[in-house]
Amino acid sequence: MSRPDKALLSDTQLSQVDAPDPLSKRQLQCDYLIIGSGAAGLLAASRLAQHGSVILVNKGRFQDSSTWNAQGGIAGVVSDKDSIESHVQDTLAAGVGLCHEDVVRTTIKHSSDMIDELIALGTRFDEADGSLHLTKEGGHSSRRVAHVQDATGRAIGEALLSQVAPHANITRLEQHTAIDLITTKLDQHNRCLGAYVLNPHGEVLSIAARQTILATGGIGKVYLYTSNPHAATGDGIAMAWRAGCSVMNLEFIQFHPTCLFHRQGSNMLISEAMRGEGAHIVDAQGRRFLFDYDQRGELAARDIVARAIDHEMKKQGVDCMYLDARSMAKTLIDDHFPNICSRLLDLGLDIMQQPIPVVPAAHYSCGGIQTDVHGKTDLEGLYAIGETACTGLHGANRLASNSLLECLVMADYCATEVLKQPIPAPCHVPAWDDSGIVPETERIQIKQNWDEIRATMSHYVGIVRSDERLRRARRRLRIVQEEIASYYWKHPLSQDLLELRNIALMADLIVQSAQQRKESRGLHYSTDYPQRSAKVADTIIRPGS
Ligand code: FAD
Ligand code: SIN
Repeated sequence: MSRPDKALLSDTQLSQVDAPDPLSKRQLQCDYLIIGSGAAGLLAASRLAQHGSVILVNKGRFQDSSTWNAQGGIAGVVSDKDSIESHVQDTLAAGVGLCHEDVVRTTIKHSSDMIDELIALGTRFDEADGSLHLTKEGGHSSRRVAHVQDATGRAIGEALLSQVAPHANITRLEQHTAIDLITTKLDQHNRCLGAYVLNPHGEVLSIAARQTILATGGIGKVYLYTSNPHAATGDGIAMAWRAGCSVMNLEFIQFHPTCLFHRQGSNMLISEAMRGEGAHIVDAQGRRFLFDYDQRGELAARDIVARAIDHEMKKQGVDCMYLDARSMAKTLIDDHFPNICSRLLDLGLDIMQQPIPVVPAAHYSCGGIQTDVHGKTDLEGLYAIGETACTGLHGANRLASNSLLECLVMADYCATEVLKQPIPAPCHVPAWDDSGIVPETERIQIKQNWDEIRATMSHYVGIVRSDERLRRARRRLRIVQEEIASYYWKHPLSQDLLELRNIALMADLIVQSAQQRKESRGLHYSTDYPQRSAKVADTIIRPGS
């Protein structure tokens, strides 16, 4: 094997490394390394840049994050008719007994401050009668979702980017993909020293940092059908796992009930806010069936709606259900959903004239790297924030529009926590060693492995699971992982290969987590254990356990 596992450097290896050549463009240093520039990474960068140098790494463009694509809005307590207690109770109910109540309370208490801050940064939330227009989504007992039409994420992203882009202390590395964390054992304990990053020219940079923050978003690309952008391959969780961090609750994959079912628009989301404002889910005969499953109908929590749609599709033997918005006023659609409407029109679908074909698709990971609300991981010098982290806020099912809120609150707390840390002694990180790597002759193995993983996860580890399906998935994933490992160590790195290695690991961790949960709760439904267990426990997996 020619390429050592750089994420697990030993003391001996470190002591053999020379000081970095300051002129070397492949060895960079900063106070704070932030990987990922969605809402979580951008806010953390702007906070920390007031106190030191920041390198902000992003494997795509800013527009490629989930943040940028967020539609419905950000949940928060900003109306006199609402209360923190009501938002807390809705979040706990959606999470089906598994939310960490202290984290829920801390996060929600901070919600109105975060929304005020976004407004101060220039986010122009929709207004009605002189105050914020608040929309409603599934599982919320009040209107409490602030939004910018149906493109809230882009507006929030632009506001945060306006703080980051001009900042002299922030170096932005776009089209750069983090490969692995660099860690070592100092004084008997492991510490994160930075990360290796692949630049667009195929070269590997080593970035040494006093503190490293993972803000790499979700894992939707593990599935065939997802609302997520291409970047959502679970890289941060995979890197943290390889560096020795525990992961939590990865079995809870949220499927959004209404993704467009269309050959040319397969990952297009149709916001839940449309249902909040009056659109219905119907079958091909126009029958509203959700009240057969929950008295809240279209506005039941997302796990219930997605499972009901999946069940009806299977029962009726059809490929999709429909979102019918024809009863909504045209002015309401024009004012609040102009982007969704125009994207559908581009595909030849007129939402005012016809029901829109929809299917549930992988949307959000409630699990992730185990952290506290400040983003602290098991590994000294490493933090994880936003969707890549798991604080226990969402429990077994995330309440709609709670994740942008989580990203901002965690980034804020994390920056404060990072600044409290003592400055570690400088430590040199070695350059990447690519000796012995042989050129690729063909890429078909990579494509085949991508397809196999995503199909296996969609067919066996989707909305409804069973012991047998999980066993089959695990067996197949083991073979694919072996193939990827042998390919990875011999061939030049590419973003595609790095992502493949990560989705394979993520798929395996999701299956392992699902196998550990012997009950049905929230987003995890097993035909072998259809009941909820009296025992309420997180699923925590530790590397090597
Ligand atoms: P992201 O915004 O996903 O950003 C992750 C960043 O990490 C990206 O910049 C990516 O390029 C980068 N990255 C990943 N891997 C690497 C790597 N190896 N190296 C370098 N960079 C890397 N939530 C709500 O609360 N309200 C909504 O209305 C809402 N609507 C949504 C609509 C859609 C279509 C989707 C997909 C999600 C929606 N969500 C919504 C969920 C929410 O948008 C996300 O959970 C949240 O934006 C995640 O933010 P983040 O900062 O953690 O990660
Ligand atoms: C949506 O607009 O339906 C997405 C909201 C969310 O995922 O929180």
